[in-house]
Amino acid sequence: MLLECVQPHPLCAETGAEGWLRYAPLDAAQAEKYNSLPASVVLFGNSGVLESAQSELIRGVRGMLGRTLRKEQVLPREKAIVLGTLDALHDAFPELREPPALGKDGYWLTAGRSHGFDCLIITAKTERGVLYGMFALLSKISRNESIVALDEVQQPSAPLRWVDEWDNLDGSIERGYAGNSIFFEKGAVRADLTRAGDYARLLASVGINGCALNNVNADPHALEAGFLPQLARIADVFRPWGVQIALSVDVSSPKLIGGLDTFDPLDPRVADWWKQKADEIYRQIPDFGGFVVKADSEGRAGPSSYGRTPAGAANVIARALQPHGGYLFYRAFVYDHHLDWTNLKNDRARAAYDTFHPLDGKFDDNVILQIKYGPIDFQVREPVSPLFGGLEKTNQAIELQITQEYTGQQRHLCFLIPMWKETLDFDLHANGNSSPVKDLVAGKTFHRPMGGFVGVANVGLDANWLGHPLAMANLYGFGRLAWNPDLSAQAIAEEWTRLTFGNDPQVVQTIDAMQLASWRIYEDYTGPLGAGTLTNILGPHYGPGVESSERNGWGMWHRDDHDGIGVDRTVATGTGFVGQYSPPVAKLYESVSGTPDQLLLFFHHVPYTHVLHSGKTVIQYIYDSHYEGAEKASNYVLQWQSLKGRVDDQRYADVLARLEYQAGHAIVWRDAVCNWFLRVSGIPDTKGRVGNYPGRVEAESMQLQGYVSTDVVPPEDASGGKAVTCPEQLQRCEASYQFKGAAGWYEIDVEYFDLSSGQSRFRVLVGDQEVDEWTADAQLPGMKLSADSSIRRRITGLALRPGDEIRIEGYPDGGERAPLDYVELSTPGQR
Ligand code: GCU
Repeated sequence: MLLECVQPHPLCAETGAEGWLRYAPLDAAQAEKYNSLPASVVLFGNSGVLESAQSELIRGVRGMLGRTLRKEQVLPREKAIVLGTLDALHDAFPELREPPALGKDGYWLTAGRSHGFDCLIITAKTERGVLYGMFALLSKISRNESIVALDEVQQPSAPLRWVDEWDNLDGSIERGYAGNSIFFEKGAVRADLTRAGDYARLLASVGINGCALNNVNADPHALEAGFLPQLARIADVFRPWGVQIALSVDVSSPKLIGGLDTFDPLDPRVADWWKQKADEIYRQIPDFGGFVVKADSEGRAGPSSYGRTPAGAANVIARALQPHGGYLFYRAFVYDHHLDWTNLKNDRARAAYDTFHPLDGKFDDNVILQIKYGPIDFQVREPVSPLFGGLEKTNQAIELQITQEYTGQQRHLCFLIPMWKETLDFDLHANGNSSPVKDLVAGKTFHRPMGGFVGVANVGLDANWLGHPLAMANLYGFGRLAWNPDLSAQAIAEEWTRLTFGNDPQVVQTIDAMQLASWRIYEDYTGPLGAGTLTNILGPHYGPGVESSERNGWGMWHRDDHDGIGVDRTVATGTGFVGQYSPPVAKLYESVSGTPDQLLLFFHHVPYTHVLHSGKTVIQYIYDSHYEGAEKASNYVLQWQSLKGRVDDQRYADVLARLEYQAGHAIVWRDAVCNWFLRVSGIPDTKGRVGNYPGRVEAESMQLQGYVSTDVVPPEDASGGKAVTCPEQLQRCEASYQFKGAAGWYEIDVEYFDLSSGQSRFRVLVGDQEVDEWTADAQLPGMKLSADSSIRRRITGLALRPGDEIRIEGYPDGGERAPLDYVELSTPGQR
């Protein structure tokens, strides 16, 4: 039974809706640390942001310590917590001197005295800074840190810390994996914006100050006069949290909705249209943040239609925003998706630098180039985009992807902070200087006025925002890194876990260990050695699909053939991409020996027999990493089970179900990728695992009643390349076989396909006794039998005797014909 409780407690059901702002009660020993916390809070000022700070402080303290702070209008004759900007506090605390390190959005937690009483002061140059300081104080209490004698100045590393949401006006979300939009439904802004306000609160708590609301593949209707008052309602719920809203816009809007016959950026009528539109928006949303532009990319219209450059298009829109203080984020994700794959010199990775480097210095000061972290597209492993180092006179922001498009879509655990850290710490040696990406994007290296971090978040209406309860660590971590990219992944994981699950050391250690290992584990059983994720890029970008990235124009190639694999991107013999890096970096990547194993196949085409730095051949590494990765993924289940009773039942059960699914799907990945490479390379696994599955019985080789054998395409998506399906006219089919092993206890894995076109039912019987039954109602992507929809059911604790008949009955539903792949038996502990 799940207990519904008002306050978070290990035994109470928690939905995850509060994210890391749960303010769970501290136990008596922990709470003792805060006995001397003042009983009053005094607010200097009366804006919406300051009022949020005050009421949030009261809410947090009440939740964690069970005490309701008294709101005072003036300083009481007792100690107090004081909230206000430095200017506002000046008369009451003339001794406060602005710390030199304090800038816009930063905060200062310090002590002062009034009427002879000690005060805990939360102050800043701006009201937003006060809000951030208040959240920092609550976070310390929640993590049970001392707040005695605080004197702490924190300053965000970059001025722009934004999230992008790829929400469509109809309520769907591009690459969203947690329900529909919190902003839109059926072409309009939702009537109930409670979740939007809650989201702004979460964003503010980690210092995020901007949010672009709609899909970068932008619907121009968002700019129409009738829509703007609706957007203003979203701005109203964001404003008290200091988060500006922004919009993605289509550069052809002047033509699509503006009544012009052109969108040529250099046509004065187009410039005027953007100016009028910006003025109209700012009349209704005075603190509007600006626009995001995706142009000349994946079929979107762009300035190339008129022979104009991205700078021409960006500046004309930026000039309309400039008088109002708005920003124009122009995405550097510009490439041709009809590349000729037969030309080995073609290379999508080159596109961003080739397009934007020559334009350095041509962009207005309120334009920010928004650059994905790698040169391709959010893959599990990519080198750092060389464009970060190629812009000295242009503002830039790094685009990171919080929503796990290519990294498991929140069905798989993948904590991305370690990957982002590697990217941000990477030294591009731009212009001969030491220049880690984190400094370049913050504008520090070349003294740019603007710069920052953009995270594509895609939260949805699901109670816990991102689907997987552990995935919120990526949103939290994005905010923390945007604030301070010097924080370690370990520190961020620990903060998040304590805030989200409490301070029990076993809980903290276990979840942190799982999170910190998860990116490498995901990489291991998906895309090895920099080859990309090897995912199905022509489908939902989810399961394996090695073939899908070859022989097409999308340019996400790994160029595998019978002899070798990898893309030669060297200057000497390849696409020349390596030459886009500064000489010290290029020197590293130009040679096979200088390139780290993890990126080898991104930069070089090598034979499968090439020996890595690690001493393994490429092919054996592919096999081994997939087996090791899948095994580690299955260990998550045991790690998590060790926390039973230590986290609330609801989140415990939700995470457990996802980890069990992941463990099964990691095997689907392992088998699909390994069998693919066994086939193309012809080189067997030295450990004999690939292609050999003792204990596995293929459905197509069982005794079938009704079921018919079906080829699965590509064949590696199903064990043995085949599955069985129940034909249209039948309502029930059966597959059975006789158990011939030794008597004992067994586990049975039933691998089947769960399509979105129906909800089949399955029954498993041993002899005449039903041992399990279930409905195939997982929400997986895919309408066809494929590795995207392949899923397993594990039945444990079965006593089997030689001669037992194991029978699976399938009851199809709609387009889902109760498809079965195989059954695998093992003894407990064998796997
Ligand atoms: C990826 C993603 C698209 C998205 C694009 C972008 O390719 O699959 O859905 O539109 O990135 O970043 O613009």
